[in-house]
Amino acid sequence: MFDDKFVWGVASSAYQVEGTDPDDGRGKTVWDTFTEQGRIFQNQNAYTSCDHMHHYKDDYALMKNLGIKAYRFSLNWARILPEGTGRVNEKAIAMYRDMILTMKENGITPYITLFHWEFPQALQEKGGWLNEEVVDWFGEYAKVVAENFSDLCEYFITINEPQCVVGLGHLSGVHAPGLKLSIPETFQIAHNLLKAHGQAVINLRKYAKQKIRIGFAPTGGVAYPYTDSAEDIEAARKVYFGFYNPMDNWTWNISWFSDPVFLGHYPKEGLEKFKEYLPEITETDMQLIHQPLDFMGQNIYNGYYVRQGADGEPEFVDREPGFPKTACNWPVTPKAFYYGIKFLTERYPLPLYITENGMSCHDNVSFDGRVHDNDRITFLDSYIGAMQRAYDEGADIRGYFLWTFLDNFEWSEGYRERFGMIYVDFMTQRRIVKDSAFWYQNVIGTNGGNLSTNQTTKEILFLDPVCTHNIWGGTRLREDFHYPVEGDDLWECWGISAHPNGDVTLRDCGFRGMKLSELWKNIRKFSEMWTVTVSHS
Ligand code: GAL
Repeated sequence: MFDDKFVWGVASSAYQVEGTDPDDGRGKTVWDTFTEQGRIFQNQNAYTSCDHMHHYKDDYALMKNLGIKAYRFSLNWARILPEGTGRVNEKAIAMYRDMILTMKENGITPYITLFHWEFPQALQEKGGWLNEEVVDWFGEYAKVVAENFSDLCEYFITINEPQCVVGLGHLSGVHAPGLKLSIPETFQIAHNLLKAHGQAVINLRKYAKQKIRIGFAPTGGVAYPYTDSAEDIEAARKVYFGFYNPMDNWTWNISWFSDPVFLGHYPKEGLEKFKEYLPEITETDMQLIHQPLDFMGQNIYNGYYVRQGADGEPEFVDREPGFPKTACNWPVTPKAFYYGIKFLTERYPLPLYITENGMSCHDNVSFDGRVHDNDRITFLDSYIGAMQRAYDEGADIRGYFLWTFLDNFEWSEGYRERFGMIYVDFMTQRRIVKDSAFWYQNVIGTNGGNLSTNQTTKEILFLDPVCTHNIWGGTRLREDFHYPVEGDDLWECWGISAHPNGDVTLRDCGFRGMKLSELWKNIRKFSEMWTVTVSHS
């Protein structure tokens, strides 16, 4: 279980939930342009989405009722600065201030993300992330954020998922601004983005009206070990922080983005592998990028198996047939969550917040008017349980933000993926609390006490007894007790025993093949809770 200080929250982003208003004074973002170009599933757009900008009072009241303690949301840069720099849109400031005040009235701590992909179109036309001036543009925006919101809010996150901004936005082009740039240009973008992060940290601190805490929220699939052997764990760690992707997919890695920010240097292996594509990287750049931070965020959804191959090098392993998956076909990998948390907290010297985790389900309103999203409960139960395992082992993890509160605009997928714990009818804006939200309410209320990992297991353990033979034995153990043992000299039966003379073996359960003494030693905390049955047949 988690302690009382553990932060239980939900996460969202401005563009995905807010919607628009003809009088809102906002500027366009690259996502508006992208949707107008028909690049989204069924030509959908986010001009209304969940219309959160007109429903936030009710939405926060609902959060409060569900016991949610923290809300990670983003500000739309172009709503605040319609041209990206310069003129401030006071209506946006008023709206966000009221949103934050309403959250606080409802006992919800705000965590503000400055950039969750809402890049101003006006700045895109000046070259966007490829133009080095973006460092100053983002810095100016951070100053406006600090001046207007830091009196109300203590927690800030600069950038969400740089991997996606660079890779999906500028390399594969499946996200706005939908560009397919050259590989050197994408490295330039990544470097500019990291410098912009650093400049934002400086300006947030410089203009803050109280002591604030700042973090960064990258992402990446977790390479996790196929077995728990020391060799496989090492192989997985090597891949997780290494560079095993082809160049047309290079942005999917952790260390290129996190090492400079948290450790102050690009990883050596990457510098070597990418050397022909890199822009000029100076000492001053590295100092700018490496600003002191208060926490690291990480969005974790899933992972992939790695083990040590016969040649001692890491090798990728296919998932088993029938491996569980979410509605958008992402694998369900709670173990990857555990290992991701372990690996990150071992490598980087900062407390960790899971800034996003969750799943899309085929949610549907049932005949009784409710949404029974059992798959999501199963998913979250196993993931949060895995997080608890890392937490119990001492990983410095301080909070968990479930993605997401309301079903919303899932980027290029439009509305076809439902990630929310609240169902949204996009035609009427009606909200329906899904079963998972009530379940999460209970997680929060008990600090994880209701997780399966903390329950008495219902599993029945079948044990194979140890029977001994002796010259003066007989056949009664077989005849009266039906133990399937050969011989007419049966003497003793150790039925439920972890004694060295008769250490029984488990069968037909998740611990098949394990001796009872091992189970007792390794998983003692649970062992009182099982029902045990001695096998008779
Ligand atoms: C993240 C992203 C979110 C949300 C989520 C689910 O990558 O930060 O905005 O879309 O994935 O796909």
